[in-house]
This record gives sequence, structure tokens and C-alpha cells, in this order.
Amino acid sequence: MHDMPDLLARRQRSLGPTYKLSYADPLYLERASGVWMFTADRAYLDAYNNVPVVGHCHPQVVDALERQARTLNANTRYAARAPVELAERLLATMPSDIGNVVFVCSGSEANELAVRVSLAATGATGLIVTRHAYHGTGVTTSGISPGTRNRPLGRDVYTVPAPANGDDPAAFGTRVRDCISRMAKDGVKPAALILDTLLSTDGIIVDPPGFMAEAVREIRKAGGLFIADEVQGGFCRTGDHFWGFQRHGVVPDLITMGKPMGNGHPVAAMAARPELMARFAKIDGYFNTFGGNTVACAVALAVLDVIEQEKLANNARVVGAYLRNGLLRLAGTNSGIGAVHGAGLYVGVEVLESHDGMSAKLAAERLVNGLQREGVLIGVTGGASNVLKIRPPLPFSTSNADVLLEKLEKVLTCPA
Ligand SMILES: Cc1ncc(COP(=O)(O)O)c(C=O)c1O
Repeated sequence: MHDMPDLLARRQRSLGPTYKLSYADPLYLERASGVWMFTADRAYLDAYNNVPVVGHCHPQVVDALERQARTLNANTRYAARAPVELAERLLATMPSDIGNVVFVCSGSEANELAVRVSLAATGATGLIVTRHAYHGTGVTTSGISPGTRNRPLGRDVYTVPAPANGDDPAAFGTRVRDCISRMAKDGVKPAALILDTLLSTDGIIVDPPGFMAEAVREIRKAGGLFIADEVQGGFCRTGDHFWGFQRHGVVPDLITMGKPMGNGHPVAAMAARPELMARFAKIDGYFNTFGGNTVACAVALAVLDVIEQEKLANNARVVGAYLRNGLLRLAGTNSGIGAVHGAGLYVGVEVLESHDGMSAKLAAERLVNGLQREGVLIGVTGGASNVLKIRPPLPFSTSNADVLLEKLEKVLTCPA
């Protein structure tokens, strides 16, 4: 783009140092549709963005937004059909123990609220998260988000190492139990265990199914609650289930969601056992000006419709399996990549240190940038930043997967 250097300089000046651009050669996007994103002169296959879950700029979602925006956009202090319908539709996807939904605008806000409810309902203060967890941007949620930068933890926040894929399913429960013992020694009572149900930033850890169950039993035994953070795992991402926690056969006390819920529009929510909300409401209240506004709810309802109508859960399951098989084949013939893991269309590929001593992190970065040059967008995650993160919009097809596999093989065999 001819005006890219100027835009980058202005961006740096006006947005400041906290903003980062993806890729060594940043993209200046003009439009997007389905699983494709376009600069002025090139199309990119989007195998990275889970937010546009039903595909970029899906016409049914855009129509719903436009129609509602022309009609009414009010907050939840007024009775309207859309938030009620949305809450009912969401609850229908959840275990019957979950009975209330509170709308917010972002995953961070959903987790902030879930922590507030946990502290209020248990009277305890301790929070347990995984070592490389990410749960949001608020004061509380950044304090439970060590991430890959090892951000400082908040008060009474403890971490447990995530398991490795395929670990003994009891091992994670043991780690949580040991953590609760450490807390007891410090005189801290646990209020909640908070888990991203795909452990995305810990490296995408999903196997064996059920490994979270023992950890949930341990937190409950200690009087704490289980918060399932579904910001990454929800909305049929894993193919087999609507929610990530269902893979582990557990029933959460609180469920938080965001990202894909509005296909790119800021809509998020927390769902809870009604008895917890009853306790919370006795001592506190909650009103979020934009959370649950009529337009946001109309958008989220349209997203649910499209997921159903286009059978996207099934597509995630079938295409995810196809993609993982292809990646395993590549890993079998290429020494640059190792284990392949994930569920549905959330796939991780471990990049290995190269023969000439390049670190796995650098090798992963090189693959991501190499793929971008080939017109395919993916990302990287994990505590060691060496896991390729493949997480496309759910309409991703087997022929899209073939393009990704072909280009990955090319950058693996002929790195630039
Ligand atoms: C697991 C998880 N929880 C919470 C959040 C925060 O969501 P948001 O960026 O919408 O505030 C994220 C964002 O990446 C996330 O991945």
C-alpha cells in the first residue's frame, strides 16, 4: 500500500506503544468476507480469527444489526424481547443448573463479573488459574492473566501448571489440590478456579477429554466455585459440543463468553447458577450501559441462527478432524513440527527447535510470517510461544484446509 508507511507512523504516534500489529509485514485490510480477508491487492485465507465465527461480514448478521439499529437500541432497564430471547436461547445450550444470564460487552467484563460473584458468594478471596492463562484486561482479570509475559499476579491469585496434552487425567486435579494446600498454608480460602476450557494460552490443551473434572471436584471440596471461561471455547468451536466445558463432562458454577458471540460486534455474557446470583443480588447489583442493548442482542441471536442453519458445529468437527489429519501427515515427514492437538477448529501444532539451533519460538514466528507471505493467516500461542494457533471462522472448508496444508508444507520445506 502506497500510504502504509505514513499510516504506520501516524498509528505509532497517536495510538502509542501498547498497540501491536500482527506479522513482520503488517496487513492493511480493506474488507473481508467468509473466510477471506482482503488488502487492496491481495486475498488472505483467514485461519486465525475465531471472532467472526460464522464468517466475516455474514449478511444475515449484518442485516439483523441494521434492522435493529433502525428500530430501537435501548438498555436493559427497559423490557425488550431480544435480551430475553437471547438469554433463553443461550440457557437452552447449557446444563439445567445454569439459569441466569447477565450481558456485558467483552470477555474481560464477563470475567470481572464472574470473579465478583465468586468472591461475594463464597466470602473467600483466593483465585486459581493456569500458569499462562489469559482472562482479560480489568484490574482483577489482568491479575489472573500471567499470559506468556508473566504479568504480575493479583493478591491471593495462585497458578497451577497446565497439563501437557495426553497427561494422566488425574494429574491436573492433583495440581489443583496441591495449590489449595499451599493457599491454606498462606491462610487463603479459594473462591474460584477459573479455566479457559481450551487452555488456549497455555498451548491449546484439550486431551484427554475429562481431565478438568478432578480439578473441579477439588475446588468444590474446598468451598470454591468453578468458572468456565468460554471466550475461546464456546459457540461450537470444538465441533462436538456447544461449550468447551462439555468436553470434560463438568457443570460449571459460572460461564463466561464473548469473542464469537457477536461475530465481531461487542457482545458478551456471564451465565450462572441462579442461587449464586440471588446471593450476589442481596449485597450488590449490576448494570452495564451497553451490555445487553437491543442491537447487541439482535446480532447475537442472528449468530446463533446461522450456527444452527449452516450446521457449523458439524463443519467444525469434520473439517477440524480433516485438518488435524493433514497436519499429522506433515509432522510425520517434516522435522520442523511435532505434536498436533486440538478439538474441532481449534488446532495447535508444536514447532520444534530447528537443526541449526534456531529456538522453537523463533521457528514458529518464521512459519507464521512465511504463511502470511503465502496468503494464509495463523497465529502463535503457548507458554513458550511455539505452538501454531489455527482457529478459523467455522465455515472453513476442506478445500480451505488443503490450501493451508499446501502452504505450510511449502514454508516448512523452503523457509524464506
Ligand atoms: C480465554 C479468554 N478470556 C477472556 C478474554 C478477554 O476477552 P476480551 O478481549 O473480549 O475482553 C480473552 C481474550 O483474548 C480470552 O482469550
